[in-house]
Amino acid sequence: MSDATWIVTGGSGFIGSAFVRLARARGWARIVNLDALTYAGNPENLAGLAGDPGYEFVRGDICDAPLVARLFAAHRPEALVNFAAETHVDRSIHDAAPFLRTNIIGTQTLLDAAREHMQSLDAAGRAAFRFLHVSTDEVYGTLGPDDPPFRETTPYAPNSPYAASKAAADHLVRAAHHTHDLPTLVTNCSNNYGPCQFPEKLIPLVICNAREGKPLPVYGDGMQVRDWLHVEDHCEALSRVIAAGRPGETYNVGGGNERANIHVVRTICRILDELEPAPAPRERLIVFVTDRPGHDRRYAIDAARIRNDLGWSPRIGFEAGIRDTVVWYLGNPGWVERVRSGAYREWLDANYANRKEVAP
Ligand code: NAD
Ligand code: DAU
Repeated sequence: MSDATWIVTGGSGFIGSAFVRLARARGWARIVNLDALTYAGNPENLAGLAGDPGYEFVRGDICDAPLVARLFAAHRPEALVNFAAETHVDRSIHDAAPFLRTNIIGTQTLLDAAREHMQSLDAAGRAAFRFLHVSTDEVYGTLGPDDPPFRETTPYAPNSPYAASKAAADHLVRAAHHTHDLPTLVTNCSNNYGPCQFPEKLIPLVICNAREGKPLPVYGDGMQVRDWLHVEDHCEALSRVIAAGRPGETYNVGGGNERANIHVVRTICRILDELEPAPAPRERLIVFVTDRPGHDRRYAIDAARIRNDLGWSPRIGFEAGIRDTVVWYLGNPGWVERVRSGAYREWLDANYANRKEVAP
């Protein structure tokens, strides 16, 4: 059990909460979780840590510089792990403003506070401190069917406001290392899936809708490809990067599980039919709808650097991981019910009402 303290931002969201749960279960560090609890943040994800003296929750905004400075001064962390972000591509197409604020201004606010903190440390403290920025493969843009997967050297070419805001943040992190020698680490990860993912993203949306006999909206022809990684494998990768990553370095993280969206949707239908038989196969619920504007066709990750340099590789295969995820959603209907607030229903209206049914 380590006695280090890490500040985690966005720890009440999907990946952040998985990371906090694992960090406490494995004794990686004491955790201080700074989260604004936007629509995507859910304290229930961390209810299991109630009473854990090694976990502290602070409700607040990463753009709040005085608050962030107070947290650094009070906890003197050995690492900051930045998950906090606006993360849904479709929402960024409807309104980019919250993405620019949190993803760009928020990241710079954290970098400034970390720099200030570094100045208060002795040589050993400065050598140990790490600023890990959790980013996405979407900064690299889109791939053709025969292109090699994204490497750390692939030029940035973000195509959505979300991806552009994450790319801007990555550049600010890079600049903080280059200019101020801040010991930064950046990870660019592919699509995650697993428990506690907000049901606006493809996999939980399809599980929840299919279970309830609702339409399963597939954008365009459904042949867009994502490289799926179980959230726990992602969190293990982040832990390796904090422990052994080289300051200033970027690490791509991916599952090597390229799947077309329509394949993922059909897989979920098949698992649900098996676990909870319905009068007719759930595939009948699939509806091809108007595509996402600027929709990236394919993502794929070359994870050779993190595999070779840090010894990480994913442990959870896609078939087993997706089955466990379906089982988790089936076993937690109360969680699903509670996150589908009025605001969630308004989002469904905004995103799907004007999407026409189209031929695939
Ligand atoms: P999420 O949307 O589930 O959670 C985001 C969390 O950040 C929420 O708890 C929210 O309350 C919090 N937050 C938002 N704005 C904040 C602010 N201004 N101050 C403090 N907290 C704030 O996101 P996620 O899917 O868990 O993604 C976490 C990180 O991982 C993001 O940076 C995302 O870009 C990155 N990422 C996600 C994926 C994926 O497939 N989900 C893949 C690669 C990288
Ligand atoms: O690649 C990493 C990224 O993965 C992260 O940076 C993002 O934060 C995360 O949200 C995710 O982005 P995507 O846009 O790939 O995820 P989403 O679940 O929204 O969509 C997955 C694919 O499914 C994508 O090709 C769009 C498609 N889709 C999505 C929805 C919500 C549909 O066909 N129908 C839908 O209703």
